Amino acid sequence: KTKAFIFDLDGVIVDTAKYHFLAWQKLAESLGINFTHEHNEELKGVSRVRSLEIILGLGNVEATQEQKDEWLVQKNEDYLQYIDKMDDSEILPGVMKVLEFLKSNQQPIILGSASKNARPILEKVNILHYFDDIVDGNDVSNAKPDPEVFLVGANKANQPNENAIVFEDSVAGIQAANIAGMMSVGIGEASVLNEADVVFNNFTEITEEFLRELINK
Ligand code: G6P
Ligand code: MG
Repeated sequence: KTKAFIFDLDGVIVDTAKYHFLAWQKLAESLGINFTHEHNEELKGVSRVRSLEIILGLGNVEATQEQKDEWLVQKNEDYLQYIDKMDDSEILPGVMKVLEFLKSNQQPIILGSASKNARPILEKVNILHYFDDIVDGNDVSNAKPDPEVFLVGANKANQPNENAIVFEDSVAGIQAANIAGMMSVGIGEASVLNEADVVFNNFTEITEEFLRELINK
């Protein structure tokens, strides 16, 4: 049988969440805003523009659109400096084994990410060719928890929503998958991702048997 396997990028395939954090923290600090790891949880899966709004909200900072645009450029430039140094050693543990298994079982592999930097990151870590289609922040206008990115993804794989399996590390992404009527697989802490259908700490916990069951369901 054929399903659609949809993967989020940041925090699922690669640990870029830490680079997003560092870049946002630098900006927050320059604005005198205290920005912690806990705050960062709320930014996972959230678009760049919305993330800035949340950070400015933390410090009750008001700014003109022009100023915000400048900060967004600055944050992305800082972020891209980290990305530039990435290589395939930054693919999270267990991910390659899962991708290989799905490929060898002829399953569509789709990227469903809010990031506008998705393609360069996949190129950097040398796995762009594993993906049959990429749906990213350049393709959709509604951010997770809106299901748009995953709906487009399943459609690209020619699969109905109920045949799609979404791998996500963010609360917003799990909610998006659930709203879309897809199976949601949380990657991270079960206490944080309690709305997911199933949660694994990381991909090393995902067995071939589990994947085979999903394919044959
Ligand atoms: C992902 C990350 C977010 C990030 C967003 C936009 O969803 O989890 O932290 O803000 O993508 O990424 P971008 O690379 O376009 O700034
Ligand atoms: Mg993510």
